[in-house]
Amino acid sequence: MASLRGGATHYPNVQGKLALRQAIADDYRRLGLDVGPDNVIVLAGAQCGLYAAAQCLLDSGDEVLVPEPSYVTYEAVLRATGAELMQVALNGEADFRLDPAALEAAITPRTRAILLNSPHNPTGQLIDAETWAAIAALCRRHDLWLISDEVYAELIFEGEHICPASLTGMAERSVVINSLSKSHAMTGWRLGWVLGPEALIQHLTHLALCMLYGCPDFIQDAACDALTTPPTELQEMREVYRARRDAVCAALAESPAVTAIRPPAGMFLMVDIRATGLSSQAFADRLLDEEGISVLSGEAFGPSAAGFVRLSLTVEAERLAAASRRLAACAQRARDERALSPTPASEADCL
Ligand SMILES: Cc1ncc(COP(=O)(O)O)c(C=O)c1O
Repeated sequence: MASLRGGATHYPNVQGKLALRQAIADDYRRLGLDVGPDNVIVLAGAQCGLYAAAQCLLDSGDEVLVPEPSYVTYEAVLRATGAELMQVALNGEADFRLDPAALEAAITPRTRAILLNSPHNPTGQLIDAETWAAIAALCRRHDLWLISDEVYAELIFEGEHICPASLTGMAERSVVINSLSKSHAMTGWRLGWVLGPEALIQHLTHLALCMLYGCPDFIQDAACDALTTPPTELQEMREVYRARRDAVCAALAESPAVTAIRPPAGMFLMVDIRATGLSSQAFADRLLDEEGISVLSGEAFGPSAAGFVRLSLTVEAERLAAASRRLAACAQRARDERALSPTPASEADCL
């Protein structure tokens, strides 16, 4: 409000105001990166950052490896450049943890980049130090860009956030994308950034000049405050999400009909509903019809999440626990019906 009243309503600096880019760079310096304000461009959220980075890095015919299940906008973002998204399956039996060997096996002479998201939407998995080291090695070996979408980095319950650009030989081939949307619950402010090599940031600035003409000055002032104020609320928010995760896992723990994969991070949780005999979509529809509870079909995020649904931890713990108990009861009913009539009524409803 002070910024608005102070008249910060004119055309902004296209790359982002220096104080904000400095505050962003300072955060990454604490994570071990040797970066300054020239390594940063402020854009309208991580989504805009992803789109702009893809436009600057990719050409028609390039291939980009993306673990699936994955965040749903990636496909359109990448394909808008003419590049192809090459899915690399994550295995539900291994809690959807990323296997660098599977990534490497998918590399072809056309592979230009790997797009990773840790903590991960939809599974809440976190890439650990050993896995990051293996991924960095294969990026160097195959001369690939690494696009790192880190929007859930502040929401880690167990483990640590590693920014891959801090690893040896990765600064010049990493594009880090983040925003205030999740960390500060500021989704509607549309404030995010891309951090990368200066040459790439220059290209992004040219693109931003004709695409966006900069993010509103008063919102950048708010972002500066958010990033430079001691983050007590961030710690509180993390604990709230941790409590929600724990409430769901406890409520589902005894159910023979569903199995929750306990996420070490993020806002989401995958639940294995294969014992019901229903497809993820059929189960999600039934849960909505019978219990008024909305979850997303895992398959919406990629074929490897068939048989799973995604719960969102965005309501308070007591409500989530009650909803989880009803979800388990709904799954149990489906499982009992299946036991009574093993032949499915419709093949389309089955896995
Ligand atoms: C993995 C991931 N990346 C990017 C975004 C977009 O974030 P923003 O609001 O910063 O554009 C989302 C939003 O849900 C997301 O889940």
